Amino acid sequence: MQHHKRPPASILFIFGGSGDLNYRKLTPALYNLFLDEWMPEQFSIVGIGRTEYTAEAYRTHLLEGIQNFSRRKGEQNGHVKKFFEHVNYLQLDAGDVASYARITEYVQAKETEWGIHPNVIFYLAVAPQLVPSIAQELGTLNLCKDKATTRIVIEKPFGHDLASAHELNALLTGLFAEEQIFRIDHYLGKETVQNILALRFANALFEPVWNRHYIDHIQITAAESVGLEDRAGYYEHSGALRDMVQNHILQLMCMVAMEAPVSFDANEIRNKKVDVLNAIRPIRREDVHESAVRGQYSAGWMKGKQVIGYRDEKNVAPESKTETYAAVKFYVDNWRWQGVPFYVRTGKLMHQKSTHVTIQFKDAPTFAFPSEAAESWRSNRLTISIQPEMDIRIRFQAKRPGQTMTLDPVNMTFNYEGSDDHTPEAYETLLLDVMEGDATLFMRADQVEAAWKVIMPILETWETRQPQDFPNYNPDSWGPEDADALIAKDGHAWINLPPEKK
Ligand code: BG6
Repeated sequence: MQHHKRPPASILFIFGGSGDLNYRKLTPALYNLFLDEWMPEQFSIVGIGRTEYTAEAYRTHLLEGIQNFSRRKGEQNGHVKKFFEHVNYLQLDAGDVASYARITEYVQAKETEWGIHPNVIFYLAVAPQLVPSIAQELGTLNLCKDKATTRIVIEKPFGHDLASAHELNALLTGLFAEEQIFRIDHYLGKETVQNILALRFANALFEPVWNRHYIDHIQITAAESVGLEDRAGYYEHSGALRDMVQNHILQLMCMVAMEAPVSFDANEIRNKKVDVLNAIRPIRREDVHESAVRGQYSAGWMKGKQVIGYRDEKNVAPESKTETYAAVKFYVDNWRWQGVPFYVRTGKLMHQKSTHVTIQFKDAPTFAFPSEAAESWRSNRLTISIQPEMDIRIRFQAKRPGQTMTLDPVNMTFNYEGSDDHTPEAYETLLLDVMEGDATLFMRADQVEAAWKVIMPILETWETRQPQDFPNYNPDSWGPEDADALIAKDGHAWINLPPEKK
């Protein structure tokens, strides 16, 4: 029996209730929260969609999602049945204005049944073009005027560029108060991402050397081994820079580069992150080719299996210019980071799934050891693995045992080994935070816009200057040659992490 404070009574309306995100992520997350007794005493989950479902058929469909995607599968001593007693389905055409009254009726009925006014959460797990009209209709409901208990959750992509993100923010903030709006970036819910703050600010050891005096450069890699996965409708208009860099990677960079917060208040943390985004040196259009590289995967082989090229994927244009790989070099112009390059990269169909942050320290200032001691001498390095490994490694020099003075680099590793099953998924953490009204791990309006501002010069330059060499990297590789050149010209190399030996 766990003893923790559960969130207040809540009704979650999930627009896109019959969609993929709910099936794969949201319902499994809610189910795990239920198993861990984190769901409120009184709660109701209502899927909203156009597809026709009886409540029973809907529950069967979602159970399949749990069986396929939940960290803990379906049957847990009758808990599935109990969980699904809280799940309903409302067939509703989001374009039909009159039908929104049914939402209010549902809330009123629950209010009467429970005898309290619950949190009302609208989760918009729908295609981005549907968000404005649904938000508009919800905004007219009386119950949305209640700033303390009604919330709206918006999935990425949040806008297509700075102008559209600004427009969407203006629309949402015209209808809801900022504290009601929860913009999701699921990377922020990842256990290992949150651990960056713990590592930096709960220890006295790292912060004194966490700056330009000791750090040579920083790398952030988010490599995926999957390809397009049948998402052409979305991805063809997005590409790696919008899909991963504008949000997930810049968020990681903020966590690594931010100043120490004075409290864990949501706005304090978010202020410190926005400071980082605002300090990123704008890349001039004429310098984009010096600082950013794009790539697209060709046909080839992936772990012994033949795979098709991006341009041959279903619904992708045969001459598509969409990038499936992006690498960028950023600088952060403030006292802490002046002159320290941040190299970031992401790509699909890469050699290995691996998301990690590497802090490369400078060389020791002098080296008194005999030269033969230094055969494999390496400077210090701290690596934070986000996934699939979940560990932190510190590399330092140690003497090889024996009569001679020979130094070897060794790793000291902390990992969350064996805790896979117990580690909450990002969406569990984020959904719980929404029910609790804690916005720390969500994006504030200005943060989203500041992130767009950072990548706009690259986006605009890439749009006007079409790539001539696509496809330019093989599946199962580490991306295009130009990305190696981007970092090599500064005297560095990308760090590809071997899995930690067990
Ligand atoms: C999503 C992107 O936001 O993040 C996908 O749209 C990407 O293209 C995914 O595959 C990666 O998330 P994760 O949690 O698997 O690293």
